[in-house]
Amino acid sequence: MNLTSFSFPYLVAPLCSTLSTTITTTTRCKSVNSIAIEGRNLNFSFTARQTKDVPVLRDCSIRIPSGQFWMLLGPNGCGKSTLLKILAGLLTPTSGTVYVKEPKSFVFQNPDHQVVMPTVDSDVAFGLGKINLADDEVRSRVAQALHAVGLSDYMKRSVQTLSGGQKQRVAIAGALAEACKVLLLDELTTFLDETDQVGVIKAVRNCLDTSEEVTALWVTHRLEELKYADGAIYMEDGKALKLKWHDWKAAT
Ligand SMILES: Nc1ncnc2c1ncn2[C@@H]1O[C@H](COP(=O)(O)OP(=O)(O)O)[C@@H](O)[C@H]1O
Ligand SMILES: [Mg+2]
Repeated sequence: MNLTSFSFPYLVAPLCSTLSTTITTTTRCKSVNSIAIEGRNLNFSFTARQTKDVPVLRDCSIRIPSGQFWMLLGPNGCGKSTLLKILAGLLTPTSGTVYVKEPKSFVFQNPDHQVVMPTVDSDVAFGLGKINLADDEVRSRVAQALHAVGLSDYMKRSVQTLSGGQKQRVAIAGALAEACKVLLLDELTTFLDETDQVGVIKAVRNCLDTSEEVTALWVTHRLEELKYADGAIYMEDGKALKLKWHDWKAAT
């Protein structure tokens, strides 16, 4: 189902008001003992040379508990990618505050922008080059990260032979190998076929199910992906609204 054809009688009051009730009604959620991602009253405008500044985020606030898989939905142009880039530190808000646990990693939409090395294992190990680790530790981290995304059998494969979804999973494994605590994932499934879409989202779900440490925020326009999430935020016109668990489960 496409968001543009979906009406949202499901919207509830913005942020905070229903955080605990929203998440404790899920069976999958872990206990909430800290916050991994928080943006408060974020404003952001793109500066246009000849016209007035274009406001994109308007007093936008979100809060994601540690160890959970949350989705960010909303129509094209509502500001999802802008918000994600601000959380990643790639853009600076005009005003407002940001807190995101470190290390954090931003995974881009285009799978071909993710991988830089010739083979799967060398690509996953690439980011570890900046940390001084023993070879055994590097091998162990790479193996664990590839296991988490279901690519253990692909370790020596050339990245050129991978599908788009497999490249996304290699990129996620690279982040996990660096002990990434927050994954910021921007519409990863847009260019993928259905099998690849499911492979990527299940890989992210598995990463969170096998680690207390990792939190993920997944931008999507596919409502069917909500079934994998612990919580969801709907954005409209630069503002964030939380969806109640039972409402959005009913919608999927
Ligand atoms: N580099 C840019 N310069 C000017 N406007 C931009 C730029 N990037 C995005 N925008 C505008 O900001 C708005 C939000 O964009 P974006 O965050 O990409 O939305 P979404 O990811 O929800 O589709 C859109 O109206 C878009 O046209
Ligand atoms: Mg976008």
